[in-house]
Amino acid sequence: MSSSIEETRTADEARLPAISPAQSEVEERLIENVLRSFEQCTEPRSKQLMQSLVRHLHAFIREVRLTEAEWEQSIEFLTAVGHITDDRRQEFILLSDVLGASMQTINVNNEAMGNATEATVFGPFFVDDAPLIENGGDIAGAGAGQPCWVEGSVSDVKGNAIPNARIEVWEADEDGFYDVQYTDHRVSGRAHLFSDDEGKYRFWGLTPTPYPIPHDGPVGQMLEATGRSPMRASHLHFMVTAPGFRTLVTHIFVRGDGLIKSDTVFGVKDSLIKDFEEQVPGVPAPDGRELGDRDWSRVRFDIVLAPEGA
Ligand SMILES: [Fe+2]
Repeated sequence: MSSSIEETRTADEARLPAISPAQSEVEERLIENVLRSFEQCTEPRSKQLMQSLVRHLHAFIREVRLTEAEWEQSIEFLTAVGHITDDRRQEFILLSDVLGASMQTINVNNEAMGNATEATVFGPFFVDDAPLIENGGDIAGAGAGQPCWVEGSVSDVKGNAIPNARIEVWEADEDGFYDVQYTDHRVSGRAHLFSDDEGKYRFWGLTPTPYPIPHDGPVGQMLEATGRSPMRASHLHFMVTAPGFRTLVTHIFVRGDGLIKSDTVFGVKDSLIKDFEEQVPGVPAPDGRELGDRDWSRVRFDIVLAPEGA
């Protein structure tokens, strides 16, 4: 047995309830057999991933003394997660999100770099090929909600403007629904645009509102059974790409939102909380848009991209 297996075994044993030496040996022998089954794998990363997964999975089973009924229930749960997933609903991403696994993977892969904008969860509602809008255009489409003027810049960590960065934006309507949740398949609340020659961008969207993650499926049942809320803090999604820079997947959150501290997917970072300034009817819009008797809001989000490979 290699030293890393020995170390893991020692650490695992420290968390185990009292079991007889004979029983412990039976359980450990099985782990060693399973680990050995991957020894001939010629792809080192696959071997590492699978052996580590086996170690942690068995450590979990042994630590909680998983019952056979619980194991069956787990299989039924994962099967239900698979059955409800299709090309418009991604229950596995939801599951990863509410367990904090998505956020931890983001943390591991996007170490903070100076003043670069922080990343957060991707979420299940991004769609490829969202419509292109010009700077100053409107992403809301037929989605209902309070108009929100969003503007900012895209720059590198030294403050140099990044022109022509691709900016994908997507958000829910005022009822908390993304367009992919509509039954008529219309596109709204999403678009892409490009930063201008000075690295600036601007568009009309909707003031973000809180919404529950889809909770009519197995993930929702798990949240309810464990006394957790399905609510997400209000947010607007961004994905920003430019050659030579690390792709940024993030949101901005609304300062003052009561759900900031209890976001069900653990996505909030302080640096991403922004002031959405409420504007009363009659205040002229930045682009001269006629808003009549509507109130509206505005927010500034300056985006700083980390260099690729940082
Ligand atoms: Fe979202």
